[in-house]
Amino acid sequence: KVPLVIDTDTAQDDCIALLVGLLDPRADLRAITMVAGNVGFDQQIRNAFLTLNVAGRLGEVPVHLGCRRPLVRPWESAENVHGDGVGGMTMDMTNCEPDPEHAVDTLIRLAAESPGELTIVCIGPLTNIATATIKDPTFVDNVKALYVMGGSNNARGNITAAAEFNFYVDPEAAKAVFAAGFNITLIPWAPLTLEHAVFGPDQLAEIEALNTPLSRFFTRVCAATLDFDRSVGINGTTHPDSLTAAVLLHPELVTCTGDYHVDVETQGELTRGYSAMSWGVHGLVSNATVVEEVDANAFYDYLGRTLAGRQGQR
Ligand code: BDR
Ligand code: CA
Repeated sequence: KVPLVIDTDTAQDDCIALLVGLLDPRADLRAITMVAGNVGFDQQIRNAFLTLNVAGRLGEVPVHLGCRRPLVRPWESAENVHGDGVGGMTMDMTNCEPDPEHAVDTLIRLAAESPGELTIVCIGPLTNIATATIKDPTFVDNVKALYVMGGSNNARGNITAAAEFNFYVDPEAAKAVFAAGFNITLIPWAPLTLEHAVFGPDQLAEIEALNTPLSRFFTRVCAATLDFDRSVGINGTTHPDSLTAAVLLHPELVTCTGDYHVDVETQGELTRGYSAMSWGVHGLVSNATVVEEVDANAFYDYLGRTLAGRQGQR
């Protein structure tokens, strides 16, 4: 099993990534850590517990609350994209208490408990991870790997022309994390997600037809973003976060990678959060493996099996 933590700004595809971590028999999900990002922080907490509940794992995996704003900048949300992030679902929150340990301390503790074994799936802004490196100088060496969703390797953004949301919201944290010396696998927004992790109308209809509690959850959660996606020319739902969790657990999904030096723009008037990915530039050595292509059909099949409840026994 793969020991992991998912660091998340829980809304829409973050919920699906959590399902992957909670239900895949290969995953040993030790904690969910929360970071400011997509929607209001308290809503993100509710969304995480809703996901634990539908996965049947409430009370089994702790939810730890982390940084409530980026390192330097005011928090900016993506509520125009995600709404509340779960299509208006609610539940009784009795017995849904977050763990009192701060997420940054959780990340540091879990990494130190088994040095070189823990992987962190980072699917929100990188504020918690950057803060952990500041608080504990041994954190970088104790972590086996980061699987980071963020950036683009063709400068196509989704919150500005140049920037992807996670890196845009906390560019200082993203820059610090790529400079820190982690073993990083990067799952970018474009072109990877747009070309290999969009589920079109036929696929969404297939998932809906599964008619399991998990598939109904998926359909409800993803419906919130469909209208937005269509308004920006994407004919389907986008799954960068669940892809990130999936490629960690199933590396055979990955069909092409490249080693790049990744840095993040923090200053630009039009380019804040832009991920500069260099290859063959003198003096810039690789600090990340960037996933460039995946087997899109295999990823869709994998998620379909998960939502059908056919992932085997944990
Ligand atoms: C990222 O931002 C959120 O909308 C998604 O969850 C993903 O982590 C994509 O830019
Ligand atoms: Ca996210």
